[in-house]
Amino acid sequence: HSADAHRTDLMTITRYVLNEQSKHPESRGDFTILLNHIVLGCKFVCSAVNKAGLAKLIGLAGETNVQGEEQKKLDVLSNEVFVKALVSSGRTCILVSEEDEEATFVEPSKRGKYAVVFDPLDGSSNIDCGVSIGTIFGIYMMKDDGEPKLEDVLQPGKNMVAAGYCMYGSSCNLVLSTGRGVNGFTLDPSLGEFILTHPDIKVPKKGKIYSVNEGNASNWDVATAKFVEKCKFPKDGSPAKSLRYIGSMVADVHRTLLYGGIFLYPADKKSPNGKLRVLYEVFPMSFLMEQAGGQAFTGKERALDLVPKKIHERSPIFLGSYDDVEAIKALYAEQQ
Ligand code: AHG
Ligand code: MN
Ligand code: MN
Ligand code: MN
Repeated sequence: HSADAHRTDLMTITRYVLNEQSKHPESRGDFTILLNHIVLGCKFVCSAVNKAGLAKLIGLAGETNVQGEEQKKLDVLSNEVFVKALVSSGRTCILVSEEDEEATFVEPSKRGKYAVVFDPLDGSSNIDCGVSIGTIFGIYMMKDDGEPKLEDVLQPGKNMVAAGYCMYGSSCNLVLSTGRGVNGFTLDPSLGEFILTHPDIKVPKKGKIYSVNEGNASNWDVATAKFVEKCKFPKDGSPAKSLRYIGSMVADVHRTLLYGGIFLYPADKKSPNGKLRVLYEVFPMSFLMEQAGGQAFTGKERALDLVPKKIHERSPIFLGSYDDVEAIKALYAEQQ
């Protein structure tokens, strides 16, 4: 196997997933077709993000979304691209997007067996200053092929068949799990293909970084406050942790996945359910973190066990290195 043989082993994301799906003949390539449409959306958003400043794509769209947030032009554009790509794939029946108040029920002629929940553009507050942003998605398989109902998408995260994100940063990285570990792909712009660059990602068992918006410290509950205090002033003589907070969940989670540590968006007095949305932020990132050997906890339970009641429901989230999440779970157990 000569040194440069790997150069011709161009493992694109499509080939990778086809290999994976060949272990599941029953999928008949439907999942591969669905994923290819998600990948198309990511390539488009990557290109739009890279030229946003030049193409007058930064700034506000002049609308607000159901979250009460002012929508950015890229929020709206990305949302439209993903909705159209997913519907045209002919493999979806329900779509939930951060940017749409109601779920989208795909017309019968284009209906497939998957429900997709997604955050078309995560980290919007970082768009105008060029800091890394991303897209997050989760995929459920519909149980029966009856008329799709909203309940079909209000499933616990552990039922997802796949989850992933694409980070638009110094390079365009797509991280994906189909339930058998986590793999990272990097877009080669000269080929327009995502190439396998990070096979079988495992999050370090313990990390030296904590990632939280310290600006909310006055509203934290006791367990969170104690945990952050321990990060800064360890009692056991270990060195203090470093604080790294980018403010785009995709970027903070990507760093946590590769370097280890813990990302937290806790509940606080102002927002008792925290800020991050269960279906298209908490679940996909928790799915990936568990598949990489880490943990994801809500302050009360395993994040993937949560059963959402509403499509834009929020939850506190603590996710990352196995041991670091254990530490915060112990503090919440004391607080019970
Ligand atoms: P979005 O841009 O999709 O609305 O998500 C923003 C989220 C998430 O990306 C990030 O972790 C969090 O908002 C940051 O919130 P704070 O600015 O309150 O720290
Ligand atoms: Mn938003
Ligand atoms: Mn988001
Ligand atoms: Mn968003």
